[in-house]
Amino acid sequence: MRHVPSAERVLLTNSGSEATYAALRLARAVTGRNKIIKFQGTYHGWHDAVLMNVISPPEKIGQYDPLSLGMLPEVIQQTLILPFNDVEALADTLQERGDEIAAILVEVIPHNIGCVLPRPEFLQALRELSTRSGALLIFDEVITGFRHALGGYQSICGVTPDLSTFAKAMANGYPIAALAGKAAYMDRFGPGGGVMFAGTYNGHPVGVSAALATIAILEDGSVHQHCFGLAQRAAAGIQQIGDELGIPMKVVVFGSVFVPYFMEGPIETYTDLLRNDNARDVSFRRTMCDHGIFMLPTALKRNHISAAHTAADIDRTLETARRVLHDL
Ligand SMILES: Cc1ncc(COP(=O)(O)O)c(C=O)c1O
Repeated sequence: MRHVPSAERVLLTNSGSEATYAALRLARAVTGRNKIIKFQGTYHGWHDAVLMNVISPPEKIGQYDPLSLGMLPEVIQQTLILPFNDVEALADTLQERGDEIAAILVEVIPHNIGCVLPRPEFLQALRELSTRSGALLIFDEVITGFRHALGGYQSICGVTPDLSTFAKAMANGYPIAALAGKAAYMDRFGPGGGVMFAGTYNGHPVGVSAALATIAILEDGSVHQHCFGLAQRAAAGIQQIGDELGIPMKVVVFGSVFVPYFMEGPIETYTDLLRNDNARDVSFRRTMCDHGIFMLPTALKRNHISAAHTAADIDRTLETARRVLHDL
């Protein structure tokens, strides 16, 4: 709560999906509205309201693209999918249907499709337009939280959401997640507030201890500095190799995350990524794995630097990348 701007109250749970589920339930309870907005390319967990339109094939853009069988159509249809970074689409939707929207749920950097950075004016519009329409603004910081800054991406971009969700880096991989937010909303989970929040293992001592230990270690900033420096070096190195070899590539880096896309920029929204050469991307990743450098062998996926990585690891990664890209 000391570090995260929106965290006037915090509730702990065990997974990011539980946290986003509770956030949406709270938003619906507070507003008395049913619909939510999410963006093409973002992932927020496995439940029916959000499990759709992440890495969609081109023919599914603009339509529902659920990721599983067995999801309730009635729930899916309460979610509106908009393009990320598109202020006009957001403004038009809220103009037409603002009084139906309980929440706008957003991965502030959609890391589930690599590293697509938000335009400052889009972040500003999210805040202003959600306030104006009475919808709650929820930042899903399950990936960005603690990884990019102790206060999450909200402490970097200066836009404060109503609710936020955290997991992953919060306890350096131990199973714990959090829903944080403004007291006026979060107190509805308390006695008389009418909104249910429960879970046998919520606030489990193992996860809590790991989170406290992680936060204590991150507080002086040296781990972030170390990871950010290595990620910059990896990204700049791969970009340079790609440029020298004449491969159309754009390596995007933010904090400790870097993603080599096999395409030219700009990369601002999901449809831009349809230009990515997925076959080349996967082939690069597979061959890197074959040479002992693990990169998830799926197109568009991000790479993370962690505290344990060293400059020698990056040098080895770059030597390997040069050989692999040369032979692609
Ligand atoms: C941004 C984001 N939100 C929510 C989730 C769901 O978290 P969990 O897998 O812990 O349920 C994930 C998982 O990858 C995620 O990346």
